[in-house]
Amino acid sequence: MPIDTRTSSDPWWKAAVVYQVYPRSFADSDGDGIGDVPGISDHLEHLSDLGVDVVWLSPVYRSPQDDNGYDISDYHDIDPTFGTLADVDDLIDRVHRHGMRLVMDLVVNHTSDEHAWFEESRRDRTNPKADWYIWRDARPGGMPGSEDAAPNNWGSFFSGPAWQWCPEREQYYLHLFSRKQPDLNWESPEVRAAVHEMMRWWLDRGVDGFRMDVINLISKDPGLPDGELLPTGYGDGMPHFSYGPRVHEYLAEVKREVFDSRPGTFLTVGEMPGVTTDQALRFTDRETGELDMVFQFEHVDLDHGRTKWDHHPLALVDLKRSLGRWQTALGERGWNSLYWNNHDQPRIVSRYGDDGACWRESATALATVLHLHRGTPYVYQGEEIGMTNVPFASIDDFRDIESVNHFHEAVALGADPEDVLVSLRRTSRDNARTPMQWTSGEHAGFTTGTPWLQVNPNHTWLNVEAQRDDPESVMAHYRRLIALRHQEPVVVDGDFTMLLPDHPAVYAFERTLGDDRLAVYANLSGEAVDGVLPEQAHGWELLLGNLPSADDSPGAPLRPWEARVYRVS
Ligand code: NOJ
Repeated sequence: MPIDTRTSSDPWWKAAVVYQVYPRSFADSDGDGIGDVPGISDHLEHLSDLGVDVVWLSPVYRSPQDDNGYDISDYHDIDPTFGTLADVDDLIDRVHRHGMRLVMDLVVNHTSDEHAWFEESRRDRTNPKADWYIWRDARPGGMPGSEDAAPNNWGSFFSGPAWQWCPEREQYYLHLFSRKQPDLNWESPEVRAAVHEMMRWWLDRGVDGFRMDVINLISKDPGLPDGELLPTGYGDGMPHFSYGPRVHEYLAEVKREVFDSRPGTFLTVGEMPGVTTDQALRFTDRETGELDMVFQFEHVDLDHGRTKWDHHPLALVDLKRSLGRWQTALGERGWNSLYWNNHDQPRIVSRYGDDGACWRESATALATVLHLHRGTPYVYQGEEIGMTNVPFASIDDFRDIESVNHFHEAVALGADPEDVLVSLRRTSRDNARTPMQWTSGEHAGFTTGTPWLQVNPNHTWLNVEAQRDDPESVMAHYRRLIALRHQEPVVVDGDFTMLLPDHPAVYAFERTLGDDRLAVYANLSGEAVDGVLPEQAHGWELLLGNLPSADDSPGAPLRPWEARVYRVS
C-alpha cells in the first residue's frame, strides 16, 4: 500500500467512492436467514466490478442485536451471527487483494448494557468503572425509580425517556438510544484510553479507518439541562449534546493517540446528526480538523416535519439551497461526504425520485447529481440497482427498534394505527434493511433459509443478476459514474457553482478545474423541461447521459428525469 498521504496536499479519499455493507442484509452464507461475513467475502467481485474503492462495514462486533449491532457488548470479538474474528481477518485480506480498503463502524458514544464495562459499572457506586457511564441521582423531590424523577426531561431517539433506573446503584443512567445502549462517559480519561486502545487494535489487524457513529454526541453539557418539549412530551436534548464543550478536544485526542504516529492511509468519517456547516468545517479543516469528512443530515431532513415521522413534501429548490450551501461552505479547506442512502434512511428512489413509471430514470438522475458534486460519494447496498421502499403490510412486518417503538408510542398517544403505518412505510429504517436483491429466485438469492426481514417482492425483476450485463441498467450507470470520478480530476477537485437555483424542476451546476469545465443538467421531475440549456451548449461534448439517446442534443428538451453531463468548451 502507498505511504501516508493524509498530510499531503491530495488525500487519496478525495477520489474514492465508498460502498456501505449492512452485514445482516447483504448475503447469508450459512442459511440461518441472517447475512454474515463469509457472505460478504463471497460477493466482493460485485464491489470491484462496480469500481468502488472502500468498503464500510456496519457493525459485526459481538452484540445482543437490540439495535442490529449498534449495541456492542465486546469490541474485540465478532458476533457469532456474523462469523468469527478469523472470518473478518480473511475479509480484510480479500478486500485488500481486490485493491479496496475496509472501514469499520466505530460505535463509542454508547455500548450495550451487556458489555462487561457496563456490567461492572452498574454494580455499585464505588467499583473501578463506576464513572464509565453517565449516572445521576433522582431529581430532588421525585420518587426515585419513577419516570418523573428522571434527572432531566430528555427523550431517547428510540421513544420514551433517555434515562433508565438501575436498582443496584439506585441511580439512573443516560441512554440517548435504547435502554440497552447506555452512553459512555467520555469525561473519564480511562474510557477514552480504552477506546483508543481498541481502535489501535483494529488498525493493527489491518483495517483502514472508521466510520464513527453519532460521534458529535460524545460530549454532553455537564449540567444536563432540560430540553424544549417535543410533541412526544419529552425534552429535546440535542442542543445540550450535539456539539458539546469537549467534542473537538476528544476527537483531537483520538487523532493524536490513534493515527498521528501510525504510517498508513486511513479514512475517518464522523456521523454527525445536527452538525452545521461551520462546525463541519472545523471538524474537517485540512490543516486543523480532527476528521477527514463528516456525514451531515440537512438534505435528508428536508422532507421531515417537526419530527422525522411527519412528512413535508420536498421542494427541489430547498434541496439545491442546502446541498449548494454545503458545497460552498466546506470549499477548499473542508470536505463533504455525499450520500442519499444508508441503513437509517428510506430508499432515495422512493423518496426524492419516482419508484413507479420513472424508476430507472429517476434512480440514475439522482445518482448523477450526487456523484458529480464535490466530495466523497457513498453508495449504500442495493442503491446501485435502484432498490426501493417496501410495501410492509402491518406492524408485525417491521423489525427496527426505532420503528416498532415509535408505532407503540404514537398509538398510545392516540394516533390512528393506519396513519402511523403510512408514515412508517415512508420513513422506517427497515426500508433500507430488506435483503440485498441478488437474483429473481427464492429470497432474492440472499439466503437459503428464512430471511430475518422480508424480501422486497419486486426482487423478481429488480436484482443484480438482471442488471449486471445490461448497459442500460441502473447498475451500469453507477459503474459509469464511479469511473468518471476516477478518470476526471475535475470531478474530484473542481470548484462547484450552482446554476438555476430557483428552477423548481432542474438541478444544474458546473464544476471547474483550470480550463476544464463540466456542466450537469438534471431534470428531477416527471415532466419534460425546455429551454434551460444555454445557446453555447451546442458546442459542448456530452460525456454522460442517463437515458437512451433519442435526442439529447443541447437544444432538445430535458425528458422526464433526464440527466446530462457535458464537457464545456
Ligand atoms: C446511528 C446509526 O447509524 C444507527 O443505525 C443507530 O441506531 C444509532 N446511531 C445508534 O447507534
